[in-house]
Amino acid sequence: MKFSVSVVAATLFLESALATPGDEKRLQSKQLRHAILRSNLLKHADALVEHARLSNGSRAFGSKGHNATVDYIKRKLDATGYYDTELQTFVYPFSDGTANFTAKEKKYSTEWFTYGPAGNVTAPVVVVNELGCEKANFLATVEGNIALIKRGSCEFGLKIALAGAAGASGAIIYNNADGPIGGGTLIKPSRPDVGPYVPAGSISGVDGVALIASIASGEVVGNIYVDATNEDRYTSNVLATTKLGDKKNVIMAGGHTDSVPAGPGINDDGSGSMGLLEIALQLPKWSVKNAVRFGFWTAEEYGLVGSEHWVVSLTAEQISDIALYLNADMIASPNFGYFIYDGDGNAFNITGPAGSDHIEHLFESYFKDAGLVSAPTEFDGRSDYGPFLDAGVPSGGLFTGAEGLKTEQQAKWWGGSAGVAYDPNYHQAGDVKSNLNVGAWIQCTKGFAHAIATYANDLKGIPRGGKRDAAKKRQISHDRRRNSACNHKLHGL
Ligand SMILES: *[C@@H]1O[C@H](CO)[C@@H](O)[C@H](O)[C@H]1NC(C)=O
Ligand SMILES: *[C@@H]1O[C@H](CO)[C@@H](O)[C@H](O)[C@H]1NC(C)=O
Ligand SMILES: *[C@@H]1O[C@H](CO)[C@@H](O)[C@H](O)[C@H]1NC(C)=O
Ligand SMILES: *[C@@H]1O[C@H](CO)[C@@H](O)[C@H](O)[C@H]1NC(C)=O
Ligand SMILES: *[C@@H]1O[C@H](CO)[C@@H](O)[C@H](O)[C@H]1NC(C)=O
Ligand SMILES: [Zn+2]
Repeated sequence: MKFSVSVVAATLFLESALATPGDEKRLQSKQLRHAILRSNLLKHADALVEHARLSNGSRAFGSKGHNATVDYIKRKLDATGYYDTELQTFVYPFSDGTANFTAKEKKYSTEWFTYGPAGNVTAPVVVVNELGCEKANFLATVEGNIALIKRGSCEFGLKIALAGAAGASGAIIYNNADGPIGGGTLIKPSRPDVGPYVPAGSISGVDGVALIASIASGEVVGNIYVDATNEDRYTSNVLATTKLGDKKNVIMAGGHTDSVPAGPGINDDGSGSMGLLEIALQLPKWSVKNAVRFGFWTAEEYGLVGSEHWVVSLTAEQISDIALYLNADMIASPNFGYFIYDGDGNAFNITGPAGSDHIEHLFESYFKDAGLVSAPTEFDGRSDYGPFLDAGVPSGGLFTGAEGLKTEQQAKWWGGSAGVAYDPNYHQAGDVKSNLNVGAWIQCTKGFAHAIATYANDLKGIPRGGKRDAAKKRQISHDRRRNSACNHKLHGL
């Protein structure tokens, strides 16, 4: 019932919008910005909190909580009748876990590797020769025991699979610098061509060197305990394109719907995805000259998986039809900065496809006009705009900061605390609603509203017409993507 009522209402609206092209119903930046209300953004945040409750405080892809977020977005967009919406569902290997290593009563500070298998292994620790990148480095003494391998030269995944091939029962990789590795991945879910993965963890360089000295003076029995879930999970992107507007000049905006397993992800990326959803829900009050498409991406935290899956599925012509892409990932950080992706490359020397400079400058003037300071942030492809850059689509976006530390100068510009992370709860259980900076969230959401409204009317400054290099999209490096998640690098070697 409800559905058919809203369809009728939307059809009436579409007719009136279509009947009066170019008049006061045409989308304007100012009106769209004014339609972005704090109360609506907070309602979306409340919904995300509810979703995370369905799966132990997380909205990681493949969980009930994440599915609930996907359903919420799809349902809200469908109810407007203003969009053609689509779920793009696919399967991807989920992985989450913890690792613990103890030896001689010492509990080591241990990091788990993404795709590392679960297990509980107690055995003597045996040092592997060289860097453990070749079969010959693993002597027969490794069999049945825990292989201790130094970091370096080749992927962690290769070392762990070679240890498995040599019959090791477990493996520990120690860092080649004093501290811990700081987040590692085996990159591939399995390496059947090399050998089976064994329960594994990593320890700091200091601990590794001390452990080797200890082994040199007598047998050391260790225990590796890995608690992990590794399984294929079905998950979905949500795409929504306005029924109105020129579909050969599509303005695109996107953000990711998943969180990390450790927390509910209300800033990362509840803020970006819900900011864009709210824009999408207000947009139906107007008509657009160029079509507007929203992409709500799954599994960004696993290496931009959803956005890449979608971009790679497009034909060269479909890619050429996308005039530009705007990315919203973390726009309500508690100790925020107003960062703009450095599309012109003048700050970080990584330049986006032509037109990315124009997007950066548009956001710069948005903040300037609001009397606010903004700063560039590296345009390195570590969020869902990466696959768009690889496909040659001009891109840009805003970011209020993650684990980086605020400088003294920035604290003068934006307030907050110098020497403290922009988001101290980044990728943790504390990424909750009460830790959002709602002022920054509104400011950035209005920034996206401004960019969407501006470009939906006029693509001046964005190169059009030339066919993009279709081959380019094939250059997307899966390994590079899998190594990076949400402005944070997981090390693969
Ligand atoms: C939530 O945690 C409990 C206990 O740790 C576990 O049994 C359950 O499977 C978890 N539920 C989900 C949806 O992950
Ligand atoms: C989430 O949605 C996918 C795709 O529709 C479905 O296959 C899966 O079973 C759902 N997972 C949960 C935990 O509900
Ligand atoms: C393993 O380590 C994690 C922290 O890394 C800790 O939360 C967990 O309780 C430990 N598990 C065991 C069985 O010691
Ligand atoms: C690992 O196995 C040993 C026995 O082999 C057992 O004593 C220990 O409790 C197990 N550890 C965990 C965390 O289950
Ligand atoms: C900028 O990057 C280009 C190509 O990647 C390189 O040749 C050039 O030396 C870099 N310039 C600076 C100032 O680092
Ligand atoms: Zn993110």
